[in-house]
Amino acid sequence: MGSRSIHGIYLLVFTVVLSLGSLILLSVYEKSSLSPCSASPELRGEMSAMTNKSTKPIVLLWFWPIGVHFDLNDCGTYFNIDSCLLTDNHSMYDVADGVIFYHKNIGWYSENMPPGPRPPFQKWIWFNVESPTNTARKSYLQHLFNLTLSYRRDSGVTVRNELSIVRTEEEFVLPKKDKLVCWIASNKLPVTGATTRMNYYFELSKHIDVSVYGLAVAGRRLSYDEYYSTIASCKFYLAFENSLHKDYITEKVNGPLAAGTVPVVLGPPRENYEEFMPADSFIHVNDFPDPKALAEFLLRLDKDDGRYLSYFTWRRYFKATPHLLTMHNEFTQPICLACDHIARDNSYNIVHDLFLWYHGS
Ligand SMILES: *[C@@H]1O[C@H](CO)[C@@H](O)[C@H](O)[C@H]1NC(C)=O
Ligand SMILES: *[C@@H]1O[C@H](CO)[C@@H](O)[C@H](O)[C@H]1NC(C)=O
Ligand SMILES: *[C@@H]1O[C@H](CO)[C@@H](O)[C@H](O)[C@H]1NC(C)=O
Repeated sequence: MGSRSIHGIYLLVFTVVLSLGSLILLSVYEKSSLSPCSASPELRGEMSAMTNKSTKPIVLLWFWPIGVHFDLNDCGTYFNIDSCLLTDNHSMYDVADGVIFYHKNIGWYSENMPPGPRPPFQKWIWFNVESPTNTARKSYLQHLFNLTLSYRRDSGVTVRNELSIVRTEEEFVLPKKDKLVCWIASNKLPVTGATTRMNYYFELSKHIDVSVYGLAVAGRRLSYDEYYSTIASCKFYLAFENSLHKDYITEKVNGPLAAGTVPVVLGPPRENYEEFMPADSFIHVNDFPDPKALAEFLLRLDKDDGRYLSYFTWRRYFKATPHLLTMHNEFTQPICLACDHIARDNSYNIVHDLFLWYHGS
């Protein structure tokens, strides 16, 4: 009898303590869940311990890519992404479900990486927009990340300008053309691999008139307002990548496709381009033995309207969406997609040999 009543008292005390404790925890949690950014460091432990599965996951941007800032609300504004909470506040590290690291910002000796232990539920995301040629191998980055975020189709999160399928046919109206071949080149630094395209351009321009814009060749940066209208006014546009790598087909091709101009591409082989856009939507430099033969072909097309217009047939079925132009927008879309991915994805991932995967050796 006596021991049973003692048990009863223990049980009562235990229950009271437990419900009191959860009451406190609940009120603390509710307070902090309303504004996670204002939670004090002491509360963060409780926040992570009591993660409400239906509240938005937190994704921490560890660096602003090459220092370029954008409005953290832009994911909702431009991409209709509202599934996650994006923050740049390092104090949120312990509760962040995902942390994004832009490759160029990562120091050579891990000096600017998170110092503390890594919460087991947290995914580290390696973010890069450069091709392998322009991606330094920083040795301690192996076996560190859970996801990759890049243009590559075999990334954990892939970011590309994709053509979309047109459901209702629209009559394509060719923009007015007053130039034959155009090229906007911002960079000619040999270390970035840009030598191949410079050499090709020099050879080509001996045989056909090329209107050039941009810092690398014309010495003046084209303003964002002039970008699409300039490309639209040319019959052909040189969409030359700075380095040649699988899937490295950038906004340089999307620009002319969106503007209504035929891209002349230099990059990975034609087959790789054809995985992303119709075969008859572009001209590949490798289709010709040399720049002179390409120039002759373009001059013939200039005189043959029917044949020239056949490069726009695909537009009845597919559509290119203009990409956002300003520098900060180059980073916004990938970061928003990664944030959204973290909100949807519950799987376990490890990226083992980052550079073997990226550089292929
Ligand atoms: C960052 O978060 C911490 C803890 O949640 C908060 O105390 C601090 O005010 C925040 N800083 C900024 C700049 O929002
Ligand atoms: C968890 O989220 C759901 C749905 O938003 C909400 O109804 C519930 O009150 C939340 N629980 C806590 C402990 O905040
Ligand atoms: C993330 O990767 C690290 C390092 O490889 C690993 O220890 C951790 O378990 C992974 N976590 C998740 C949630 O995938």
